[in-house]
Amino acid sequence: MRRLPYVLHFSNMLALHILVILCLHLSPSSANHDDQHVPIETKFTADILTNTAATCLHYNLTLYIGDGSREGTRNLVSVVLHGVGLVSEPIELNARHTRLERGSIYQVPVNLSAPLGELITIELHSQPLLRIDDTWLCDKITVQLCEGEELLFPFYRWVNHQQTQFLRPATAIFESQDVNPIGQKQRRMELEQSRKKYRWSIYEDGLPATVAAEKSHDLPKDVQYSAKMAKDHASAIQHAEETIKHLLTSTEQWDHKFSGLEHLMPGARSQIYEYVKEHWAEDSFFGYQFLNGFNPMVIQRCSELPKNFPVTEEMVRDSMGGSTLEQEMKDGNIFLVDYRILDGLVGNIVHDEQTYLAAPLVLLYANPKGQMMPIAIQLTQEVTVPDACVKGELKQSPIFLPTDGKYDWLLAKTFVRLADSVHLMVTLWLRTYLLGEVFSMATLRNLPSTHPLYKLLIPHTRYNLAVNVIGRSMVMNEGGHLGKYSTVGDETRTELLKRATASLTYGTLCLPCNIFVRGLQTVPNYYYRDDGLKVFNIINKYVDGVLTHYYTSNDSVVEDAELQNWISEIFTKGFLGNNQTGIPQFFTTPPEVVKFVTMVIFTITAQHAAVQNAKFEFGGWMPNAPFALRRPPPTEKGHATMEQILEALPDKGSTAMPIAVLKHSSEDYSDVYPLGHFPEQLFGEEAPLKVIEAFRSDLKVLSDAIDERNAQLELPYTPLNPRDIINSICK
Ligand SMILES: *[C@@H]1O[C@H](CO)[C@@H](O)[C@H](O)[C@H]1NC(C)=O
Ligand SMILES: *[C@@H]1O[C@H](CO)[C@@H](O)[C@H](O)[C@H]1NC(C)=O
Ligand SMILES: *[C@@H]1O[C@H](CO)[C@@H](O)[C@H](O)[C@H]1NC(C)=O
Ligand SMILES: *[C@@H]1O[C@H](CO)[C@@H](O)[C@H](O)[C@H]1NC(C)=O
Repeated sequence: MRRLPYVLHFSNMLALHILVILCLHLSPSSANHDDQHVPIETKFTADILTNTAATCLHYNLTLYIGDGSREGTRNLVSVVLHGVGLVSEPIELNARHTRLERGSIYQVPVNLSAPLGELITIELHSQPLLRIDDTWLCDKITVQLCEGEELLFPFYRWVNHQQTQFLRPATAIFESQDVNPIGQKQRRMELEQSRKKYRWSIYEDGLPATVAAEKSHDLPKDVQYSAKMAKDHASAIQHAEETIKHLLTSTEQWDHKFSGLEHLMPGARSQIYEYVKEHWAEDSFFGYQFLNGFNPMVIQRCSELPKNFPVTEEMVRDSMGGSTLEQEMKDGNIFLVDYRILDGLVGNIVHDEQTYLAAPLVLLYANPKGQMMPIAIQLTQEVTVPDACVKGELKQSPIFLPTDGKYDWLLAKTFVRLADSVHLMVTLWLRTYLLGEVFSMATLRNLPSTHPLYKLLIPHTRYNLAVNVIGRSMVMNEGGHLGKYSTVGDETRTELLKRATASLTYGTLCLPCNIFVRGLQTVPNYYYRDDGLKVFNIINKYVDGVLTHYYTSNDSVVEDAELQNWISEIFTKGFLGNNQTGIPQFFTTPPEVVKFVTMVIFTITAQHAAVQNAKFEFGGWMPNAPFALRRPPPTEKGHATMEQILEALPDKGSTAMPIAVLKHSSEDYSDVYPLGHFPEQLFGEEAPLKVIEAFRSDLKVLSDAIDERNAQLELPYTPLNPRDIINSICK
């Protein structure tokens, strides 16, 4: 066997006289202490090293300390450079444990006595002073060679003394290209460590697997909230709680004007909130929300009435403006909203009172004025009411109509609004937060940091694990901020999520297919669709641009075992190995990878924004989106009064906390970046950097176009303005 020089150990190194002559005079240069990430204007070369490396003896080594930590470090930091042929001696970066400040940049000139050749990896050590181990955040190291090219070694992780860390050059490479044994070994080790750190856990059978962590402190530090993020989060909670403190224990009912409800949103009310407050009880606004509210995912075109919803021509005649249901259905103007997924779910006990929900069916008519008008509502999935036989005769479930008594109709609509809020558990929690967690976990466990897909996805996983762990422990569960006040208790939530998980499909996660399947290609004023498809296409171009730079043939995909493990784990852990979902189990061509990754990024950015951003604006006015109702769904018409509706709506105390939760998750956080703006520099080559630049400029053009369109609208549609889409699910 040929003896290769890089298997030499440190003890042999001295004999090679590769001496680091100078590594003293350490000084923080252009230290950046303000709380902003300042983009560093540097050009990085595409090739790992050219001829310079073969001869160069003078390096400038620059260390960038992240500012996500509370402090810097007084650990003794040293690096060892591994070249293709040789290895340097340890180079100390802060002699005598000089403090390295957070957010600072340190430059060390290095003179070698022999050239190292192409740099494969930088080994990073951090020795504690006495026994005090300050872990610290290393953003990146750059190496400038002989006043010429500068090489980037991105890291963006915490450094502790127990583990030696390895930084790889920014140029993305597949396993098959990682031919140097040092690189290969490092690649394997990185994945082994990641799989130990990020373990799957079954939260509930029948639901996507989650990260094994009870509290956010159980998570690896790399994915915990940064100090800034934690501070913003704590102050948002405190702020929200202060606003509602005086109401929290109140069992008082709201008056018919909901006086004081808007005080739960001091300083946070928007034009949309004010609009909702004025128009929540109107039919056209009720219909509008199925297209552009917080849950634009349930409405579908109706070409045949469901058998369990026997609406007749007679019933809807007054709503059809002279036309007929049959005719309008033929013309594609009739729509259905069906919450059958909620059928049979039982309401939670809130404030010692039983609460209720319904599984309604709503029929809507897209009228010639471009409005989406509700024309019939049935609150049960059965044609008969639940206690139909109590008095020995079958009782039909009433079909509520706009021509009914004002309050009968409003009460029926209120049960629909409740169903729409409850359904957010599916649209928002399962289909964005929980899937985002699966995508994050699969990425962290299966892709090493030099993999191009890791570089593409990791900024889109930022804080997703942290926010989900917080969500599970503090918000959702019974006793949690929301769980205590929502009609969705633990068992009901689990049952609903199981049903929804079983019916997840790849097709409905891809927006163009989703719109097609629901038959909504041409419905007017569907801004979620219009903006969503544009964002989808921009994301698709970005993903395609980056990934096809690396995946240039079918073979490059088929042979990428890391990629295949990634998708296989998503299939088995996220989609429970259910091949009915249509989720791929392996990839064979580059377009398949691009399509899937586009869906992933769309889901955790735009789709999340469409629901989350709107949830606050439309959900803050409680009667428009109650979290529970204190009376069972009506089984008869002709009795409802406003007083009964107020009795059914949550009392003041149980209104306050859900609104506080909405409010705190919609506060501005400082450590959060809009779509396409990345604090990390992960790619080194020009091609992906150019694609990212084009991505940002496409998004900017769209953002301006949306602003312009919105200026013409009575009620602007803002959730999918790229400016307000965040790179990842993080709050
Ligand atoms: C490192 O090399 C440069 C260029 O030859 C020289 O100017 C400098 O003095 C050297 N530094 C030390 C400490 O030898
Ligand atoms: C290192 O940086 C200094 C100034 O920042 C520069 O003068 C010097 O030429 C650089 N040395 C190398 C080897 O690039
Ligand atoms: C890649 O695979 C697809 C599907 O199997 C096939 O249609 C296509 O021709 C292949 N491309 C090349 C360049 O072989
Ligand atoms: C799906 O899974 C079932 C059961 O595991 C299996 O019998 C069937 O062949 C699979 N279908 C496809 C298309 O893979």
